[in-house]
Formats: sequence, C-alpha cells, structure tokens
Amino acid sequence: MTIKTATVNGVLTIEIARPEKKNALTRVMYQAMADALRAANDDKAVRAVLIQGQPDIFTSGNDIEDFMSSPPRDEDAPVFQFMRALLGCEKPVVAAVNGAAIGIGTTMLLHCDFVYVADDARLAMPFVSLGLVPEFGSSLVVPRLMGHRRAAEKLLLGDPFTGEQAAECGIANAVLPAAEVVNHARRVAERFNKLAPSAVRESKRLMQAPDREQLMAVIKTEAEIFGARLRSPEAMEAFQAFFQKRQPDFSKF
Ligand code: COA
Repeated sequence: MTIKTATVNGVLTIEIARPEKKNALTRVMYQAMADALRAANDDKAVRAVLIQGQPDIFTSGNDIEDFMSSPPRDEDAPVFQFMRALLGCEKPVVAAVNGAAIGIGTTMLLHCDFVYVADDARLAMPFVSLGLVPEFGSSLVVPRLMGHRRAAEKLLLGDPFTGEQAAECGIANAVLPAAEVVNHARRVAERFNKLAPSAVRESKRLMQAPDREQLMAVIKTEAEIFGARLRSPEAMEAFQAFFQKRQPDFSKF
C-alpha cells in the first residue's frame, strides 16, 4: 500500500508511504490521493485534511520511470485529477514536510492552506534540470510569493532550499524540529473541529476566488508545454541520466 488514508478525530490523513523509492509518486498513488480528497468534500466527518510523508522523506516527486513509460496524456491523467482535487478541496489542507519535497512535492505545497516543515526539510523544483518546465501554477505562484529573482533561483536553476528558507519566502508557515512536524500539523488540522464548517468552507473559497481564473489559465498553458517537454530529447537525456546515476549532458542540444 503506497498511499494510506485514515480519518481520525475529524482529520483525513493522506500518508505517502513508498519509502523504498523515496515516496516517488506513481499514477496509482495520484489516483488514490485524488479519490481521497474528492471524498473528503462530501464527508461531514472530515473537517480538515493532513498530507504527510515518511520521517525521512516527503516525496521525491513524480516517479521518473512513469514519466518515461506513461506520461500524462490528457486532463484525465491521475496527476491532473490529484492536483484538481487539491485545488478544489473545500476543507482546509495542512501539509507536514519531513525530509525532501522535490518537484510536485514542492508544487503541491503551494496549493495547501498550511505548510509545516522540518528543520531538516529540503525543497526543490528542479524542472529545468530535467528538461521540463514549472507545473500546476508554480510559474505564477512562486514569483508572486517571493519576487522574480528569488523565484528564478528555484525555478530556472532548480536550487534546493531549506525549511527555514521555505518559511522565510512564504511557502511554509513555520519550521519545527523534525520529530514535532506531524504532531504540530495534526493539532492545527484538529482546530477545525471547533470551527463552523460552512464558514470555513466559504472563507477558503473567498480567499481563492480572486486569482482562480488566472491560476487555471496558467495551469492549462503549463500543462501543454510540460506534456510536450516530457517527450523531448532534453527530458529523455535527463531521465536516462537519473537512472544511470550520472549528470545529464545537455551540451549537444
Ligand atoms: N522516480 C523514480 N524513482 C526514484 C525517484 C523518482 N522520482 N526518486 C528516487 N527514486 C528511486 C531511486 O531510483 C532508487 O531506486 P533503486 O534503489 O532501485 O536504485 C531509490 O528510489 C532510492 O533513491 P536514491 O536516489 O538512491 O536515494 P538518495 O537518498 O541518494 O536520494 C533523492 C534521494 C530524493 C535526493 C533522489 O532520489 C532524487 O533526487 N530523486 C529524484 C528527484 C527528482 O528529480 N524528481 C522529479 C522532480 S520533477
């Protein structure tokens, strides 16, 4: 089982649990997360959602083998279903990040309502390093959060950044000792048990509404370019290099 879900005390926990592959996300895992998030909207017992990984890894991002063998073809692809479900989740979503959050591991945080990171967390959006482009609104949201220049370090150079830097640039709410992140995030999620659920839902919708149309348009454009780039010789070179445990050679392009 690579995605574990459980609802306890008003909180639906979605746990990414594929430690042998550093929690790399496959189509099956995206589908399971999409289904769980969609079900949460209609489940009165769920007041908030908690997304967590393992103690030493949040997620190493999209499974690179999946990228090569079965890239997402259209908007029904599980990865699109997952991100649509996250963006459309009417309940507050809290993320607890221990260890690395790479690629979509960081992208998904941009669309959570609360993000708590460990002091040993390491975030990165190395899309360009893989011959790809930013995804799911990150080309809009990241520069808005931190300004073009700091966004360029993360999105063009793919520089990794620490939990401390994530909090400082507005991606995370707070940095905590690694052993406390999940419990803290859970306590925040459980606070919604005492709040008026419809008021929470309406308020979240109001906060999202002003930028919604623009965000969805950017996501559509990014997806078109990302889809084409997945099949590009640059991306193929990067994927092969990853599995051959070497640096990619882009000198021939
Ligand atoms: N897709 C597929 N397999 C992955 C993976 C991914 N995104 N990330 C890790 N794995 C696999 C490795 O191939 C390895 O498999 P193996 O044991 O069969 O050789 C296993 O998980 C362990 O990974 P490894 O790289 O040996 O662990 P590490 O501790 O040295 O490094 C990471 C951890 C997360 C830093 C490193 O795995 C990494 O950079 N992963 C890819 C990140 C990435 O580029 N993601 C895509 C972003 S769009």
